[in-house]
Amino acid sequence: MSLAPLTPVTDATLKSRADFEDFQDRARTRWDELWSGDTTVLSVSVGSCSVAKGALDVLAACRAIGGRTVVREVSCDGACWMEPWVEVKRPGEPAVVYAHIEPDDVRALVAGTLSNRAVGVRGDRPYGAIPPLAEHPFFKHQQRIVLANTGVIEPTSIKDAVARGAYSAYLKVLFDVSAEEAIAEVTAANLRGRGGAGFPAGIKWESGRRARVTPKFVVCNSHEGEPNVYKDRRIHEGDPHRILEGILIACIVCGAERGYNYIGGEYPLAIARFRQAVADAERLGLIGRNVLGSGKDVFFRVRTGGGAYICGEGSSLMYSIMGVRGQPRTKPPRSVEEGIWKRPTIANNTETLANVPDIINKGGAWFAGIGTERSKGTKLMTVQGSLVTMGLVEVPMGTTLRTLVDEIWGGMRPGHTFKGVQTGGVSAGALKEEHLDLPVDFDSLTDVGGMLGSGGFVVFDQHVCAVDFARYLTAFNRYESCSKCVPCRLGNPALVEILDRIRFGRGSLADLALIQRTSKHIVELSLCGLGQVAPMPLLGMIKEFEAEFRAHIVDGVCPAGVCPIGAAAPALVAAD
Ligand SMILES: Cc1cc2nc3c(=O)[nH]c(=O)nc-3n(C[C@H](O)[C@H](O)[C@H](O)COP(=O)(O)O)c2cc1C
Ligand code: SF4
Repeated sequence: MSLAPLTPVTDATLKSRADFEDFQDRARTRWDELWSGDTTVLSVSVGSCSVAKGALDVLAACRAIGGRTVVREVSCDGACWMEPWVEVKRPGEPAVVYAHIEPDDVRALVAGTLSNRAVGVRGDRPYGAIPPLAEHPFFKHQQRIVLANTGVIEPTSIKDAVARGAYSAYLKVLFDVSAEEAIAEVTAANLRGRGGAGFPAGIKWESGRRARVTPKFVVCNSHEGEPNVYKDRRIHEGDPHRILEGILIACIVCGAERGYNYIGGEYPLAIARFRQAVADAERLGLIGRNVLGSGKDVFFRVRTGGGAYICGEGSSLMYSIMGVRGQPRTKPPRSVEEGIWKRPTIANNTETLANVPDIINKGGAWFAGIGTERSKGTKLMTVQGSLVTMGLVEVPMGTTLRTLVDEIWGGMRPGHTFKGVQTGGVSAGALKEEHLDLPVDFDSLTDVGGMLGSGGFVVFDQHVCAVDFARYLTAFNRYESCSKCVPCRLGNPALVEILDRIRFGRGSLADLALIQRTSKHIVELSLCGLGQVAPMPLLGMIKEFEAEFRAHIVDGVCPAGVCPIGAAAPALVAAD
């Protein structure tokens, strides 16, 4: 079934604001017709998580159905636990989402005889025995700004994106509001950086706008090299135009002539979908000279990383973009004074920039009305562990850890008992049961040794050994150290070596003091953020699970039964 009856939307270059508004009108009409027509619309979730579970075969099976069906390739909406899911919208009925679909299920799915796999119906009313999806605990607590279109639009369709509001905020900064007014909204929103440090974006943008040296650049940091974080990847896979719009807005209001997006090279689907978004925006005339006749020029480049975690650190990332080895440098000068090619560069995380279009459209006060006193808006959070409904969620800042773990992520799977939650990716300590009622925001977890960081959590159970887990986290930082400065280059391998002694049952109580002393040196003397926080997961694990460390050392047992105590230690333990 072709889409021929739908209103045609031009692919030609748009030369003016009126051209764009005509495109927008047609895209919206086409979108409405899609959902109100007499065809069955099948939307298949294709993201990096569902591809691993066979989503491409499901997509092919849907396409093979033919007849009066329209098949759309959307992305995972965060509910990895439902993958592969398919949304079915039959004429005159609301759209229903079905979980765990295999290619052989597709005929029954279209025939409407697969009701036991229906998870929920779109909208706020039940449909027969099927409850609204929005009432499912995984979705109930979520408030979606950044993820509003993820799993809804086809990420490779600029028409879908525009129909759902993409580039309307860009239009405003091109024609209606001044740079000062736009930055005032970002400042009023108190949008703090989502890359880990929580620095206010409005202050950074104002410094960027005031910088006199030209040309200036904007960089979107989409490197995301931590092992347990996947939020930025999913925004790229689900709604690449939102990121691109945020970057283009930053370019216009800061007076930057070129935007960059630096994406982790391990993310092929994210890269492909983002490149397609850039190509489509360029073809339509949203990037280039004299955009839509506004008199403003903006250009764009996509760059990909080679797999080194350190290339997510701001200054390393900029060297990497320039084709130089990615290693941090001392600051000042800050990158907003001297960044790429020694020119002022405004760098922000993907999620930070993806919030911007809605802030421009709805106002800073609207955004500041969500969240807590000092942490405004929503936050994307990802999780790993033995949980029932794992995935990516977007919740208002201040949602408690308990709501996240027990309700949104569905609690522990049968046979698994909650032991702790590792916070802040590889940069902070673990928290225990007594901390679960803390609100998750930029500040509350820090007081007890945790950290929001970029929003990646690992929930671990009784089968995980605190020493072994600490070794994994410390070893990650040790392998990812760029080796530029001595405390980090030599201190982290030393910590791994001590932990291996303990894991093999050869540790002594003096090792606990040695860990504290070595960590102090690494934290205080390292050049960049990697070294400055590298020992934190280990120190946090000792703080919360000291008895377990002592059991290895004093009693010669690993209570979780994980460590090779008593086994012959390999010759070169620390260099494995
Ligand atoms: C070792 C290391 C890795 C980092 N990786 C990332 C990353 O992958 N993405 C990111 O946005 N910020 C990362 N950061 C933080 C950036 O240096 C920078 O603070 C951030 O991109 C600024 O954007 P924001 O203000 O919007 O958060 C990393 C920092 C360090 C020290
Ligand atoms: S702290 Fe580590 S990662 Fe950072 S510059 Fe020094 S050696 Fe490199």
